Amino acid sequence: MSKKILVLPGDGIGPEIVAEAIKVLDTLRAEYGLEVEVEEALVGGAAIDATGSPLPEETLALAREADAVLLGAVGGPKWARLDISVRPEKGLLGLRSGLELFANLRPALLYPQLVEASTLKPDVVSGLDIMIVRELTGGIYFGEPRGIRKLEGGEKEGFNTLVYRESEIERIARVAFDIAAKREGRLCSVDKANVLEATELWREVVTRVGKEYAGVELSHMYVDNAAMQLVREPKQFDVLVTTNMFGDILSDCAAMLTGSIGMLPSASLGEGGKGMYEPIHGSAPDIAGQGTANPLATILSLSMLLRYSLGEPAMAARIDQAVDQVLDDGLRTPDIWSEGTTRVGTDSIGDAVVVALRYV
Ligand code: IPM
Ligand code: MG
Repeated sequence: MSKKILVLPGDGIGPEIVAEAIKVLDTLRAEYGLEVEVEEALVGGAAIDATGSPLPEETLALAREADAVLLGAVGGPKWARLDISVRPEKGLLGLRSGLELFANLRPALLYPQLVEASTLKPDVVSGLDIMIVRELTGGIYFGEPRGIRKLEGGEKEGFNTLVYRESEIERIARVAFDIAAKREGRLCSVDKANVLEATELWREVVTRVGKEYAGVELSHMYVDNAAMQLVREPKQFDVLVTTNMFGDILSDCAAMLTGSIGMLPSASLGEGGKGMYEPIHGSAPDIAGQGTANPLATILSLSMLLRYSLGEPAMAARIDQAVDQVLDDGLRTPDIWSEGTTRVGTDSIGDAVVVALRYV
């Protein structure tokens, strides 16, 4: 039986970049015999406009049935004034929690061809290869109670709850240790244990799990220092594991080391093989519809999808090689353009990946 992918283009540049990934997928089906069924559904602002909800029941049901989900991006100014409980972002968070995708893998890999696109000095970033493992279904993003309440006297107060159970910390720690064991064997756990009890427990549990992984060298770092070290000497890191919110922030920071957030894919995984795959960037409403967005993070997310959820490492490797080839050929969307390379749009770089696929 062929596997099923649910495609959720979403908002802003989402539909444009997902269209390029679909071209790539269609090429793998037509030329290399990849067997896969593809369905499309609504999420985010597009779903709000059509149904009133950022995550319609039907979308969640289709996502549950699928082997993997490929998502573009959600959100935009059009929906920013809605109540926070029904904003586009809730669609994404609802998918993550509804599918129990607790482990978010965000690789920050610098392509040698893009060393000039980074704002950091070439010797600081060349050869960079970091994996950020972000906890995705807990912490302050989901903690209760939360809200905005009126105090006596009429002043308003906003509040959120940072909460982690031992079992939640343990399972994400295991994912991170397993990944580190297959890489250089170095894991840095990032917390704020000097101030926040929830992350004091985080440190305690990660340390405990670490006793089972003799081959992995574990270190701990406070998040403020980690942010600084990421831009000071990023190559000191192999794998980072951290909470939902710290991972959100640090992964954007790590993305910029690689030249552009437009290059970075991500995988969100649960206990089984199912996963959701998306570029780590947002919907970029400022450039939506202009045909200039970089679709490579989405195309690389498709590669991760094939590798992790569909058991198709050879197909994934073809995509990776094709992307590499296109960069070798000097084609660049504006976000990664530098002197001496050729500036192209979303559609052209997608087409170039398709052409390269035929030769890899
Ligand atoms: C991300 C995004 C999301 C997050 C938003 C869109 C809800 O920033 O995937 O990093 O905060 O997790
Ligand atoms: Mg983010």
